[in-house]
Amino acid sequence: MLNLGILISGRGSNMEAILKAIKRKKIPINPAIVISNKSDARGLKIAQKLGVKTEVIESKGFKGNRWEYDQKIIAILKKNGVTPKNGLVCLAGFMRIVSPEFVKKYKNKIINIHPALLPAFPGLDAQKQAVEYGSKYSGVTVHFVDSGVDTGPIILQKVVKVENNDTEETLAKRILLKEHQAYPEAVQLFAEGKIKISGRKTKIS
Ligand code: GRF
Repeated sequence: MLNLGILISGRGSNMEAILKAIKRKKIPINPAIVISNKSDARGLKIAQKLGVKTEVIESKGFKGNRWEYDQKIIAILKKNGVTPKNGLVCLAGFMRIVSPEFVKKYKNKIINIHPALLPAFPGLDAQKQAVEYGSKYSGVTVHFVDSGVDTGPIILQKVVKVENNDTEETLAKRILLKEHQAYPEAVQLFAEGKIKISGRKTKIS
C-alpha cells in the first residue's frame, strides 16, 4: 500500500479531514506520518488523537538553507515509508515553500490545497484577494506541486459563490468546508491510481 505523509504548520483541519476520510472511506493509503515545522501546531494533537505518528522539524531558527531543511523532512518521510516510489506527500496548510530539489525528487508525488480557483489569486491571503477583487465566484484547488508558487497541474477544483456581504472571514469559512471535501477526494483519486498527468494537465479516470 502507498504511504502518506502530511506536512502542516497550524490548525490542521485539512489534515483531519484527510485522516478521517481515509478511515471512513477505506481509501487505500496508509497515513504514515504527520510532520510540522512548528512545535505548537494544533494539528499535531489532532493527528496523535487519531493514532497517527507525528514529528516536528522546527523551522524557526533553522540555520541551513531551504534544501537543507527539506532534506530533514525527506529523511523522516523515508523512515516512514513515504518514498517517491511508494508515497504521497500532502501539504496541508504547510506555510513554507518547498525547495526545487524536494519537488524534483518527489516529482508528481506532492500535492497542495489552495483556497482559490487557480490561476486566480495564488500566494497568501487568497480569500482576501478574491473579496477585494470583487470576484463573484472563488473556491478551492487541489494541485500537484511544481517549482512555482501554486502553479502545478490541477487535480480538482470546487466553486464557492462570493456573496455581496462576504468578508475575508465569511468567505474563508465557506471555502474551508469545500476544502474538507476536495482534499480527501484528491487523495482518494491518487491512491486509486486514477490521475494521469500529461504536461500541465491531468486526466481523471
Ligand atoms: C487552508 O485554507 C489551506 O487552503 C491553506 O491553508 C489553510 C490551512 O488550514 N493552504 P488547515 O491548517 O488545514 O486548517
